[in-house]
Amino acid sequence: MQIEHRKKRGKPAEPVKTPRESMSCAHGSQCGWPVSRRDFVAGVGAVAVGAAMGSPAWAASAVDSQATDPSAGSEVPLSLTVNGEQKQLSIDPRTSLLDLLREDLKLTGTKKGCDHGQCGACTVLVNDRRINSCLTLAVSIDGDNVTTIEGLAKGDELHAVQQAFIDNDGFQCGYCTPGQIISVVALISEAKSGAASIVTRDLRQAGPVELTDDEIRERMSGNICRCGAYPGIVAAVRQVSGKSPTQTAFEDRVRGDSSAAF
Ligand code: FES
Ligand code: FES
Repeated sequence: MQIEHRKKRGKPAEPVKTPRESMSCAHGSQCGWPVSRRDFVAGVGAVAVGAAMGSPAWAASAVDSQATDPSAGSEVPLSLTVNGEQKQLSIDPRTSLLDLLREDLKLTGTKKGCDHGQCGACTVLVNDRRINSCLTLAVSIDGDNVTTIEGLAKGDELHAVQQAFIDNDGFQCGYCTPGQIISVVALISEAKSGAASIVTRDLRQAGPVELTDDEIRERMSGNICRCGAYPGIVAAVRQVSGKSPTQTAFEDRVRGDSSAAF
């Protein structure tokens, strides 16, 4: 009824203004917005084009953020022995060992999988102990010895672990393989030195730890293989540890190895 009444009297209904709409327009129009619709659309377009083209404004903001980062551009000296070669380097202190190996030293055999310490693809030896190079700041190992997959073979002669992976189909795509092989090299010496794992049955027993399948799986659990080449990897470890690659846990038991899993 009210609408009818207004129509009759020719009085248009007034829209209710929001607080924002009641602000004055910067360009003097009566649109109710601080900037005109045209300027707003043009501004958004300019930002989008700038982002796509790498505009000077975008680059300037990156330069500004570098300027406010006190560590940017200040390099530190680093001395490393990599695969037997002495290296005197000057690096950004934020560089991970993985990036140093791959980007600066061009040793791309070490792979970057997750870059978060979860896959083991980046495993290298530092002073003969295996580590995730993606989680290691290069400056933290100043003066140390690094061994990568490139440092295992002696000329054309493959390392025994490399050969065992080939003999036992321990890989498919090969992406995880350098990390797996380096891990096995460390695993063998850890077991020989008597280092126990979570599945070692007798912690009081001195001497080398028997590498059962359970021991192998546990000790290799930090290295993920998306291709699922695990049976071949276990067989390869068995081969280099002096067992038959196809030897089963049952055979271990028959031989008297009570720690073998069933
Ligand atoms: S890349 Fe280092 S653990 Fe995955
Ligand atoms: S062989 Fe492909 S990820 Fe392990």
